[in-house]
Formats: sequence, structure tokens, C-alpha cells
Amino acid sequence: MSRSSDMQPALGSPGTAVLITGGASGIGLASARALAAVGRPVALWDINKTKAEAGAAAITADYGVATLGVGIDLRDLQALGPALTETRRALSPIGGLVHSAGIVDVGSLDGVTPESWDDGINTHLRPLILLTQAMMEDFRANPGSAIVAIASINATLGNAANPIYTAAKGGMLSLVRSLADRLATDKIRINSVSPGMVLTPMMQPSVDHFPKGYFEKRILMERLGNPSEIGRVVRFLLSDEASYMTAAEVVVDGGNISSQRI
Ligand SMILES: NC(=O)c1ccc[n+]([C@@H]2O[C@H](COP(=O)([O-])OP(=O)(O)OC[C@H]3O[C@@H](n4cnc5c(N)ncnc54)[C@H](O)[C@@H]3O)[C@@H](O)[C@H]2O)c1
Repeated sequence: MSRSSDMQPALGSPGTAVLITGGASGIGLASARALAAVGRPVALWDINKTKAEAGAAAITADYGVATLGVGIDLRDLQALGPALTETRRALSPIGGLVHSAGIVDVGSLDGVTPESWDDGINTHLRPLILLTQAMMEDFRANPGSAIVAIASINATLGNAANPIYTAAKGGMLSLVRSLADRLATDKIRINSVSPGMVLTPMMQPSVDHFPKGYFEKRILMERLGNPSEIGRVVRFLLSDEASYMTAAEVVVDGGNISSQRI
């Protein structure tokens, strides 16, 4: 039966493995757990090898799926090929990619250096296209393959504090729309998810720095998000439930960029 007439839930379909960058922490780890909960094997790629391996082992213990933790610096072009070979060997067939690795510059205009610019762009933006390119053979071989890029509401909101982050995230939204056109010819879907304020190790310093309620007062739902609330949306977009979605930006922010509250 075609997906358009079959109304059975399909969150775990396809059952192929998913590669998750930044998989050792926060939104990447929550996405991995959500996918594993419906039976999909997951590879956690992260610059923190110890946390990637521990996260993978915990997911196998909790959900019984095959997992792999890989230590990799995504800025290192030479590292991508060997890490992909290791992942294919352990978890093939692979039919999903979540690009969640991220860093934030906080030095505003004055703090930008050529090195910090390269770090931001080569962590967020460049791996999205290079990994997509390198994984085309996996995606083509496995029907239902899909990609999710974790962007940010900061792709839309102007924020003086982090121009590199904002530029990289805006670039990710545009890159997703370009890739969607190319990938559709191979029946591969790609979408972006733009989280709002989500309580993760990346956000914790900002939450600690500002007075209690500082972020919440702007958000219609009056609270920060939980990483699992992003992971569930990522899982949906990687599944056959989202069979007619590509080139979309899904904003998951509890009502933040829509808000006029002050
Ligand atoms: N937390 C939020 O409020 C929020 C909001 C919008 C967007 N995001 C985005 O969500 C994604 C995940 O962020 P998070 O909040 O879970 O942060 P996090 O710090 O918990 O996780 C990010 C992970 O990326 C890894 N990483 C960083 N640089 C890397 C590199 N060069 N190579 C490999 N791994 C690297 C880190 O080690 C870390 O485990 C990021 O892209 C972030 O920009 C987060």
C-alpha cells in the first residue's frame, strides 16, 4: 500500500542506521535516543570520543539496538573518510544523517578572527555538504533515506553576540533548500530543524548567566525546551511519516520567533 493511503504509524520506518554528528550530547544525543527507541541503529560522531562511546553503550543497553561511538573532529577533512568506513562496517545499511554538532562564538563583531570564522563555518556548514556528498551511495541504495540539519532560530533572529553562528545557521537553511532540489532526483529528502532555547550543555552557561526567567518571558509556552522534544521531531522527519516533506524548515521553539512579548 502506498504511504498516502496507509495510515499505520511508521516512525521506525525505514529501519536503516542513522549517523548523528554531535551525537554525544544535547540535541544530537536526544535524537539518537529517539531513533533507537523505534529500533534504528545509531552512530554517534563527536569530538568527545569518550562521551560518544559512553552514549552509544548506554543506548544499546536501554534499547537493544546496534550502536557505534566515533571520536572525530568534523573540521578535519582527512578524518571524514575513515570514520565513514568504520561506521559502514559496523552499522550498514545506513539511511539517515543528522548534523547536530555545534559550537557558539560569543565575542560579537570585535571577537571575530579568521580562525574563529573557519571553526564556526567548518563545524556547522561544511560538514553538511561534504557528509551528504560522501553518503550518497548509502542513501541511493536505501529507499526512504533522509537528512536533518539542526539549524537554529538564530538563523532568522539577528543576534549581535554570535555573528559566525548566525551566519553558519542561515547558510544551513539555504544549503538545505539547494540540496533538496538535487537530492529529490534520487528520492532522498532533506529538511532543517530550528530549535529555540533548549536546555543542553551548550545553553547552560547562558541560563546561568542571565536572571531567572530571562529567556522564558519571551517564549509563548513560558519555558525552555527539553532535548527530547527536538529529538522526536528529528525522528519524525527521518521516517516515512514525513514522506512528502523536503526542503522545509521546521521551527521547534515553543513560540519564540513568533513572539511579541517583552
Ligand atoms: N541548545 C539550544 O538551545 C540550541 C538552539 C538552537 C540550535 N541548537 C543547535 O543544536 C545543535 C546541538 O546543540 P546542543 O545544544 O545539543 O549542544 P551540545 O553542546 O550539547 O552538543 C553539541 C555537540 O557537538 C560536538 N561538537 C562540537 N564541535 C565538534 C566538532 N568539530 N566535531 C565533532 N563534534 C563536535 C560537541 O562535543 C557536543 O557534544 C547545535 O548545532 C546547536 O547550534 C541548539
